[in-house]
Amino acid sequence: MNYEVIIPAAGQGKRMKAGKNKQFIELEGKPVIVHTLTVFEKDPACTGILLVINPDERALFEEMAAGLTKIKKMVSGGDERQHSVYNGLKAATSDIVLVHDGARPFIKKHVISKLVKAAYEDGAATVAVPVKDTIKRVLNSEVIETVERSSLWAVQTPQAFRLSDILAAHKEASAAAFLGTDDASLMERSGHKVQVIEGDYTNIKLTTPDDLLMAKAILESERGE
Ligand code: CTP
Ligand code: MG
Repeated sequence: MNYEVIIPAAGQGKRMKAGKNKQFIELEGKPVIVHTLTVFEKDPACTGILLVINPDERALFEEMAAGLTKIKKMVSGGDERQHSVYNGLKAATSDIVLVHDGARPFIKKHVISKLVKAAYEDGAATVAVPVKDTIKRVLNSEVIETVERSSLWAVQTPQAFRLSDILAAHKEASAAAFLGTDDASLMERSGHKVQVIEGDYTNIKLTTPDDLLMAKAILESERGE
């Protein structure tokens, strides 16, 4: 069950406050994006990577990607993540495509395999984990509602789709000026069912500086320390 993966890495990483795109932050001597790319480089089912970048950073990405063989193209991103992903999708060719954030370097191959299987069977799937905290809806510092937790899942990437379906969903969203925070939501608004595959809590998205502490701990535990 082969797939291509779109990896959006064209953001600015503003919340990380690192003074540079967070993809270039080094973890154990390797940039975040190299950690992420290496997972797919090593997965035999991955036939190609479409890396979405800020064109101003092309030289940096090319330097980092030296030695990686699966990057088919570096595509220019857009102002929003959704635009970046759409640009990547336009360069894809496989029947099943994955979308995975460049800023999620701890994704595991066994989770990718489960996701890809679900997409081949059902057309669309996302990785997610059950929410652990109690979630309340709040307005002006006052609780409006406590949301029933048992049905709440925190959605991650990768997400997997049939290429033709996700391209059409992006086209529809773009025509309606709809901006979603993930790609599955575009499929949902186009009437598709999306399967949920349970993943790992360690598949964090490096977003704020404290996530780097988590990243260090995750890498240490992977090395058995
Ligand atoms: N991304 C992208 N193009 C954009 C915005 C985001 O390709 N216009 C990518 C990021 O590089 C990241 C992923 O989408 O790998 C998830 O986005 P996010 O965590 O929000 O990253 P940034 O947008 O870079 O961070 P911030 O929102 O804090 O500026
Ligand atoms: Mg962002």
